[in-house]
Amino acid sequence: MSRPSILATHPLFPEARTILDAHCDVEYWSRPERPSRAEFLKQVAAKDGLVCLLTEKIDKEMLATAPKLRIAANVAVGFDNISVPDCTARKVAVTNTPGVLDETTADFAWTLLMCVARRVGEGEALARSGEWAGWNLDQLCGGDVWGKTLGVIGFGRIGRAVARRSTGFKMKVIYTDAVRAAEEAEREVGAKFVDMDTLLREADFVSVHVPLMAETRHLISADRLKKMKRTAYLVNTARGPVVDNEALYQALKAGTIAGAALDVHEHEPTVHAGLITLKNVVLEPHLASASIETRTRMAVMAAENLTAFFAGKRPPNILNPEVLG
Ligand code: DGY
Repeated sequence: MSRPSILATHPLFPEARTILDAHCDVEYWSRPERPSRAEFLKQVAAKDGLVCLLTEKIDKEMLATAPKLRIAANVAVGFDNISVPDCTARKVAVTNTPGVLDETTADFAWTLLMCVARRVGEGEALARSGEWAGWNLDQLCGGDVWGKTLGVIGFGRIGRAVARRSTGFKMKVIYTDAVRAAEEAEREVGAKFVDMDTLLREADFVSVHVPLMAETRHLISADRLKKMKRTAYLVNTARGPVVDNEALYQALKAGTIAGAALDVHEHEPTVHAGLITLKNVVLEPHLASASIETRTRMAVMAAENLTAFFAGKRPPNILNPEVLG
């Protein structure tokens, strides 16, 4: 086959570009803002392959405008931006980037946990304000982290990496998932399997690590927030719609829970207008995997998935291998 024609909806990193450019003719999106839907559809129309970010929606409409497309290589582990069944129906391969971002994401979940519990954002604002009147005994007191109970919802690679970090804080770890993990995985972090209600009732910190699917949309609902301790904190580094943001706002305003830290938002890039007004919430713009090392690895992995496909090999991270014939 002649060199495939590829759209990469981001300039990527030199390490990934080197891989792609050696085998493909690549058009890179180079403006700092994300492409609009119309621009994306126009640019992908005549392409054989796509390297995309989670901001691009790959659905029936997009697939119809790109009849030659054979692979969509997502630079993300989550792939809720892609309709895999629609891709499979059109024999378009889909790949993602699992494994390379687990530890970096877990680091960030802990960053958020510590920030919300110890009121780091409020403290920073006070220190910069010029209004700090000096040390005071009850100034910005938060909640202790050490010795508390960490509740992990979703005990996959990232959930476990978050749990593993709790050891130094002498924490008790409980988790819930659709299926119980192997004994060895539980033993590694001293985690105990419990049902969702027990986790919500007992955890001082609830950290969410499930993919976004029909079953996990609004998993953290108004009812579930009511089951948490009034002193507990919620951390979400998974996907925004897993937490009902309006219900969370109401819960935080009413003091149903002590605080929350969100890296991901229900309607990205819009952040819930009410949440922005609250002090007991830490808000970040979807940064959990954003270390230069990890984002580079993710881009390289997507490039390798795509080039493997066009070399007639099985892409290492294919999500719909049935299209390979
Ligand atoms: C992913 O990979 O799914 C993240 O949300 C971005 O790192």
